[in-house]
Amino acid sequence: MKHSNLFIFLLFFMGISAETAEKICVIGTGYVGLVTGIGLAHLGHDITCIDIDQAKIDRLNRLEIPIYEPGLKELADPLMKEQKIRFSTDRVSAMRSADILYIAVGTPMSDDGCADLSALNATLNDIAQALNKKKIICIKSTVPVGTCAQAKQTLIKKGCDPLSFEIVSNPEFLREGSSVHDFLNPDRIVIGCEDHSAGLRIKNLYKKLIDNRSKCLITNLESSELTKYASNALLATKIAFINEIAQLCNKTGANVEEVARGMGMDKRIGEQFLNPGPGFGGSCFPKDTKALELIIKKHGLEANLINAIFKSNENHKQILLKQVDHLLGIQTVAILGLTFKANTDDIRYSFAIELIEHLQKRGAHIKAYDPQGTQNMKELFPNIEYCTSTKDTLKNSDLMVIVTEWDEFKKLNIKECADLMRTRRVMDMRNILDPNELKRNNFTFYNVGKMR
Ligand code: UGA
Repeated sequence: MKHSNLFIFLLFFMGISAETAEKICVIGTGYVGLVTGIGLAHLGHDITCIDIDQAKIDRLNRLEIPIYEPGLKELADPLMKEQKIRFSTDRVSAMRSADILYIAVGTPMSDDGCADLSALNATLNDIAQALNKKKIICIKSTVPVGTCAQAKQTLIKKGCDPLSFEIVSNPEFLREGSSVHDFLNPDRIVIGCEDHSAGLRIKNLYKKLIDNRSKCLITNLESSELTKYASNALLATKIAFINEIAQLCNKTGANVEEVARGMGMDKRIGEQFLNPGPGFGGSCFPKDTKALELIIKKHGLEANLINAIFKSNENHKQILLKQVDHLLGIQTVAILGLTFKANTDDIRYSFAIELIEHLQKRGAHIKAYDPQGTQNMKELFPNIEYCTSTKDTLKNSDLMVIVTEWDEFKKLNIKECADLMRTRRVMDMRNILDPNELKRNNFTFYNVGKMR
């Protein structure tokens, strides 16, 4: 064997194949599709993102990112200027010219709690019209186990030649608010496939990211689909669990942060995702735990544990609302934080929604402030008073309720807050204020598990 051939053979053997830029069409420019599309363009692939929403595509073509996601605009700007990523509503032609189709459409919770697959099914219709050459169809949307196999059958029923496509599952594990970091530094990449070479081709897209730290699992379609649901359900379990422990801490004098630290020192438990708060929210945990419960039941099994997570989360929120009632004497409430967590403008399943509804029923005057989420909340509740700073919100208020753990709330000067407020009452749902400092300034307060 010649030296050069030996070198290529060795590279291949070691799994380091030559750099290949792929032509990819990402379907759906929601939070998952947008971060995936921009991230893959950053890795050197040729990307067209498509959506049915003309207004959103117009904004993207004007270099406007329609969501607040730290670092995304900085990553996207040069790629958009250099035309390494394009945005279009011309779905079928964008799909035709690509070799890999990434499905990243929404699968929201439907009225019965199952994942609503209507956007996925509409996408499969478009794909059936666009299959002009062999393509890999990679499903990134969170879908119930069995959906990838079902998608294959759907395409065959629509007249597609089974040899003209391969279905691959590649669930996303990005967190809103840190999705750019998560995309570029993944703990793991999970790929499900029937045809191993299609799986390897998807793995190769992320080649620059796979190092000693990031692990890649190639498995079958069903295991990959279920890994996503099981991961989210386990993370939600950790949160529900620590919230129950936090309630017990408040009754017993234990400090939940110390308990969580002590637990987390055991590597089998791990220290992450043990921060108590106002229950888990967002577009994923509530929907995915509910969907998993229904999937388990559909298969004739009992979903006792998963069912308990949901119940525990709801119960925890009711306890917090009772504590708010306990503090609610005089009536102007200052809500700090509207989003379901910090560093996002997303208010889906945010505790702030339940809180506002609850306070409205009690006739409270509500002032609210969030660094990014105000606009979205205004669409739901146009008639509460929105402020543009923490100080304005607290001025003449009788109760401060911290819903979101934004950095600027962590830096609050308690003495200044005391001077601004009419009555010194705090409900700190993120445990970001120092209880001793609150006591020194004569606040009546609740937090989640560190009262003493
Ligand atoms: C979650 C998962 O963490 C991601 O891995 C997954 O990709 C994503 O769902 C998804 O399925 O798309 P995300 O919903 O963006 O990500 O947010 P998280 O940071 O996981 O927080 C979820 C909720 O749990 C928030 O309400 C947050 O405040 C709460 N939480 C989180 C806690 O109350 N305590 C914690 O220790 C952590």
